[in-house]
Amino acid sequence: MLRSILLGVGGYLPEKVLSNEDLEHMVDTSDSWIRERTGICRRHIAAPEELTSDLAIRAAQEALKHAHLSGADMDMIILATTTPDDTLPATAVKVQRAIGMTGGFAFDIQAVCSGFMYALATADAYIRSGMIKKALVIGAETISRIVDWTDRNTCVLFGDGAGAVILSAEDKAGTNQDQGVLTTILRSDGRYADLLRTTGGVSRTQTAGTILMEGREVFRHAVQNLAEVAHQVLENTGLSAEDVSFLVPHQANARIIDGTAKKLNFGPERVILTLPEQGNTSAASIPLALFEGVMRGQIHRGDLLLLESMGGGFTWAGALIRY
Ligand code: ACO
Repeated sequence: MLRSILLGVGGYLPEKVLSNEDLEHMVDTSDSWIRERTGICRRHIAAPEELTSDLAIRAAQEALKHAHLSGADMDMIILATTTPDDTLPATAVKVQRAIGMTGGFAFDIQAVCSGFMYALATADAYIRSGMIKKALVIGAETISRIVDWTDRNTCVLFGDGAGAVILSAEDKAGTNQDQGVLTTILRSDGRYADLLRTTGGVSRTQTAGTILMEGREVFRHAVQNLAEVAHQVLENTGLSAEDVSFLVPHQANARIIDGTAKKLNFGPERVILTLPEQGNTSAASIPLALFEGVMRGQIHRGDLLLLESMGGGFTWAGALIRY
């Protein structure tokens, strides 16, 4: 059975750090409120001339280096973003150009904070179908560009960054002990489209708009949907929560992460957390957490990882991967 093996991980965070104390000078908020309600201490913000593609290219180069491969080895790039450089072309082709990949194909995916999970599941499907052998999957955001910096309800939550993984097709036995992506689940429910949205967009207002969120409602759905999808990926494989080495969640709010972890009976030592230092980097948060987990020496080869995300749409997703 063809499996998508994670050959390499990469990440990049812009140099500029915006602390909770900095935000105290920008809106009516406090470090203690932000820490208590969200678990966030600081976030990285892209420089004005730094684009989503620049972040994505840095993360991609890091992942290629980690996998001991070059851009020319890739058959496909999928880049998940809500904040593309331009309306067209896709930001993915800029990464393709930068890494010297002249064959294959590259495209973007938009599923807000679940974007990376949608990209991962799509790349895995291409690999399992035999269409491609190697994929570069990226989540990259300059989400700070669509944040209303006068709105304390949202501006304290987000940060910029990019994460990337290299997937490679390998023939495996087809058991739960296989290395690689074991299962993925993608979900969306457009009935909740208005709970997390922007004030505008290309077709409607000819602007990018800024983020509007019904925080409490998003929170309620997030805990429920994430626990549900986590149980479903385990059910798909017949594995149990005890078999999982680490939960690698979308980093939106520490209380959402804790709530889901509790429902799965996971202690904090089995959760990869980047939220305090990075905030919510939308589509970049899961690959950045993977990158951090590997670089910190927490995640080792053979570990079973449960990835899960929730974002605007609503979109939500889960995956089980043996690293
Ligand atoms: N500083 C101080 N006070 C604030 C701030 C702030 N930054 N933000 C809101 N408040 C106030 C509110 O105005 C409100 O005041 P009021 O009672 O006088 O009206 C009070 O704090 C409580 O507000 P709530 O919204 O009830 O606070 P809550 O505990 O729900 O926390 C939060 C808000 C952090 C946004 C939470 O609801 C949350 O994390 N929601 C989920 C967000 C999320 O998961 N997003 C992920 C998807 S993002 C994406 O897909 C791009």
